Amino acid sequence: MVKVNAENLLVNIDFDKYQKRANEVNKMIDEKSGPGNDFLGWLNYPETYDKAELEQIIKSAVFIRKNFDVLVVCGIGGSYLGARAGIEALKGLHSKDKPEIIFLGQTFSSDYVYETLEYIKDKKFAINVISKSGTTTETAISFRLLKELLEKKVGKKEAQKAIFATTDASKGALKELSIKEGYQTFVLPGDVGGRYSVFTAVGLLPLAVAGVDVRKLMAGAYKAMVELRNPSLKENQAYKYAVIRDYFYRNGKQVELFVSYEPRLVQLGEWFKQLFGESEGKDIKGLLPDSATFSTDLHSLGQFIQDGSKVLFETILFIKKPMNEVIIPEDKEDLDGLNYLKGKSLQFVNEKAFLGTLKAHTETGKVPNCILEMEKLNDEAMGYLFYFFMKTCAMSAYLLDVNPFNQPGVEVYKKNMFHLLGKKGY
Ligand code: PA5
Repeated sequence: MVKVNAENLLVNIDFDKYQKRANEVNKMIDEKSGPGNDFLGWLNYPETYDKAELEQIIKSAVFIRKNFDVLVVCGIGGSYLGARAGIEALKGLHSKDKPEIIFLGQTFSSDYVYETLEYIKDKKFAINVISKSGTTTETAISFRLLKELLEKKVGKKEAQKAIFATTDASKGALKELSIKEGYQTFVLPGDVGGRYSVFTAVGLLPLAVAGVDVRKLMAGAYKAMVELRNPSLKENQAYKYAVIRDYFYRNGKQVELFVSYEPRLVQLGEWFKQLFGESEGKDIKGLLPDSATFSTDLHSLGQFIQDGSKVLFETILFIKKPMNEVIIPEDKEDLDGLNYLKGKSLQFVNEKAFLGTLKAHTETGKVPNCILEMEKLNDEAMGYLFYFFMKTCAMSAYLLDVNPFNQPGVEVYKKNMFHLLGKKGY
């Protein structure tokens, strides 16, 4: 479902030379013997996931779809980015489907929180609060505000039916609160880290509420799990991509720019940045993951990519078939001079923009391009794609000799902030 096209890397990478190391890393992943091995629960999750819980997720999603106008997903980092990426990719940016899904718990911004609470206060809203630790401050503050608003609006008993908590199976402040308040809870398994959690209830409940067929999504993930077990760099597209990333890192590139030609994939870029940034950016190592949407950003970043310092390579995700087709109409007067495109589809134009840009950036700009080709995006393909990136990331981080599954650096800002806030113990 994802094919790595290595024809525009401007270099011939000797994949055979990498094969031995790739075999070792694959064994390490398979046998769960590498650093962070207690967070490899995502690896076989498309097969081992709790089937009864999935049914409960779908049941709750049907209930929320039937009874509410808005679902507020309250979480940060791995506790919302996957759901948001999947919902936008599959449902688009102006979906008329109900309920509307909005996100809170990912910021301390007074204006954002105020404006969100104002926006929902007169609507029928449900809440899915998501936090593995149950103590993340951004999420906890927003949830306190949401809970207060909802309880004031509909009373404690009705609020209880409208709040769904996704957290650890047995511990943490959110788990304790949920038991005390009687919320429906879903589990983020202990051996799955936040940024690898999109196939758990963390991603599946919001996705299902948005109308995504999560069974198909899981089927896509399962397909990827099976296909991407093969250690051969000739076969395994995720490993091939991981080796390309590793090669460029070791040969002077500092930035990987993840590019798509679809505005509905902007949030996938955000998820991508978290996945690779938190997994690889440690021990003073790692590519900086950045993202852009073309042709939009060709009118902003495009200049830098073409002529600026040669710090980056591009990874282009190109989807060949759009979900919807738009045909350029004929205009009798042709004052805009566009009749040469009459009857052509926008996808035709988008593809030509992609090919023209590819030539400009590689041949003229000397910027290597790694292309990830996909026929189309649908619920199943999205499941495949999420898993593809996760498997790439595990291989890529281990090739770099870093633990893909921890994020010790994230704690530093929290400690300083807690000290400044006067939290006990800091
Ligand atoms: O990937 C991660 O582990 C992080 O991004 C977490 O998901 C994020 O910090 C939120 O943590 P929690 O789910 O504990 O609130």
